[in-house]
Amino acid sequence: VTMHQKDCDGYPNEGSSERCKEEMNVMWYLAIVQLVQQEEDGTYFINKTEIEDFPSFQYRGILLDTSRHFLPLKAILNTLDAMAYSKFNVFHWHIVDDPSFPYQSRTFPDLSSKGAYHPMSHIYTQSDVRRVLTHARLRGIRVIPEFDSPGHTQSWGKGTPNLLTPCYKGSSPSGTFGPINPASALSYIFMSQFLKEVTSVFPDPYFHLGGDEVNFSCWQSNPDVRAFMQKMGFGKDYTKLESFYMENIVNITSNLNKTSIVWQDVFDYHERIPKDTILHIWKGLPAQYKAETSRMTKAGHRVLLGAPWYINHIAYGQDWRISYNVQPLNFSGTEEQKKLVIGGEVSMWGEYVDATNLSPRLWPRACAAAERLWSDESQTRSAEAAFPRLQAFRCSLLRRGVRAEPLSPGHCSDEYRGI
Ligand SMILES: *[C@@H]1O[C@H](CO)[C@@H](O)[C@H](O)[C@H]1NC(C)=O
Ligand SMILES: *[C@@H]1O[C@H](CO)[C@@H](O)[C@H](O)[C@H]1NC(C)=O
Ligand SMILES: *[C@@H]1O[C@H](CO)[C@@H](O)[C@H](O)[C@H]1NC(C)=O
Ligand SMILES: *[C@@H]1O[C@H](CO)[C@@H](O)[C@H](O)[C@H]1NC(C)=O
Ligand SMILES: *[C@@H]1O[C@H](CO)[C@@H](O)[C@H](O)[C@H]1NC(C)=O
Repeated sequence: VTMHQKDCDGYPNEGSSERCKEEMNVMWYLAIVQLVQQEEDGTYFINKTEIEDFPSFQYRGILLDTSRHFLPLKAILNTLDAMAYSKFNVFHWHIVDDPSFPYQSRTFPDLSSKGAYHPMSHIYTQSDVRRVLTHARLRGIRVIPEFDSPGHTQSWGKGTPNLLTPCYKGSSPSGTFGPINPASALSYIFMSQFLKEVTSVFPDPYFHLGGDEVNFSCWQSNPDVRAFMQKMGFGKDYTKLESFYMENIVNITSNLNKTSIVWQDVFDYHERIPKDTILHIWKGLPAQYKAETSRMTKAGHRVLLGAPWYINHIAYGQDWRISYNVQPLNFSGTEEQKKLVIGGEVSMWGEYVDATNLSPRLWPRACAAAERLWSDESQTRSAEAAFPRLQAFRCSLLRRGVRAEPLSPGHCSDEYRGI
C-alpha cells in the first residue's frame, strides 16, 4: 500500500510536527484497517491500492461529560476506540461540573473526596487519567480537559471553603452558594495553584476553561461583590465582572503556556480576550451560529463549532441526517475568516447518559459529524449517498464490539450474532 500525506506544516497549530506525524501514522493504520475485506470462505484480504487522503479540519472532537453521571474508565476507553474508527482526533473531557467532581487532584484532594458522587468508586485517579492519555495517544487522539468556571462549580465548593460566592437573602447569607467568587483574591490564588497542577497533568497545548452560563443573581445579592463592582467601575453590568474573572483565568493559563478554549459566552460579553483564545460555539440554530462564526472570525479568533452537534438530544427516526447536512464553512466571511474555523465537536452531555446508554447514543450517530469534519465540504455528498456506507459502517462497529444502535429496519449480513 502506497500512501500520500498532506504536509504537516502548521498542523495542529501549536503542536510539533512530530505530533502530526504520529497522528498521521495512526490515520494510515486505520485507513488500512478499513480496507480489510472478507472472502466467501471467511479469509480476510486487502487488495492492492493507493490512498491519498487528509482531513478537512484539524480538530474533530467528541465531548464526554463525566460529572452529571460518572463514566467508568472502561466506558471512556471504549469510546476512544470507537472514536479512532471514525477518525475523531480530540477527546474533550468535560470532567467536572455542578453535580460532581470526579477528578482526584494531587494538590486539593478534598475536591473529589467531598465533591465526587463517591470518594473512592466514582473518581478518576492520577493513574486513571494517565491510562486515558496513553490509550488516546496510541489512537491519534488528543485529550483536552475542561475545568469549567466560574459557573458550573457547585461541586468544587464542597471541598474548597470560601471559593464560591455566598448568596444573600436581604442582608444575611441564605446558606446557598453561587459561582466562584470573582471579588476575592483567594479565588485567583486557588485557581492559579489548581491550574498549575492540571495543565501539567494534561499535556495537550490546548486547555478548555469553560466560562458559560454564569447566573448573576447570586453575585448581585452579595454585598462584597457589589462593593467590588463599584470599586472596579463596572456599574451594574455583571458581564464586566464575568469578563474580568475570565480574563484573569485566561492570563493564568497563558502563563502556563497553554492556549485557552472558552465557550462563546465569553466572546459575547466583551472583546478583551487575547486573540489566540479559541472560541467554542454552542448556541442556536444555523442562522445564529453562522452569524456568530462570522463575528468571531472577523475579530480574528479561531473557532470551534459545537452548536449543530449536540447529539445527546435524540429524536425519533434518522436524526443523523441533520448532523450530516451541516456546512461549517457556509457563513458570510472572507477566505481568511474561513481558515480560522479549526473544526467541530460532537457533544454527549450527561444528564440522561451513563455507561448503560453512552455507546448506542453516540454510535453510529456521531459518525455523520465525523465524515463532515473529515471530508471536503465542496464535494457535495448527499445524506442519501452516505446512508448505505453508514449502515455498513455500523455493522463493522458491531463486529468490533461497539454497541452501535440501528439506523433503520434491516440486518448485518455477516457473522455478527447480535447483543
Ligand atoms: C480486488 O482486486 C481484484 C484484482 O484487481 C479484483 O478483481 C477484485 O474485484 C477486487 N476486489 C474487491 C473486493 O475490490
Ligand atoms: C439564577 O439563580 C437564581 C437563584 O438561584 C434562580 O432563581 C434563577 O432562576 C436563576 N436564573 C437562571 C436564568 O437560571
Ligand atoms: C491579562 O493580561 C494582559 C496582557 O498581559 C493584561 O493587559 C491584562 O491587564 C491582564 N488582565 C487581567 C485581568 O489581569
Ligand atoms: C513556558 O514557556 C517558557 C518559554 O519557553 C518557559 O521559560 C517556561 O518555563 C514555561 N512555563 C511553564 C509553566 O511551563
Ligand atoms: C449555504 O447556506 C444557505 C442558507 O444559510 C443556503 O441557502 C445555501 O444553499 C448554502 N450553500 C451551499 C453551497 O449549500
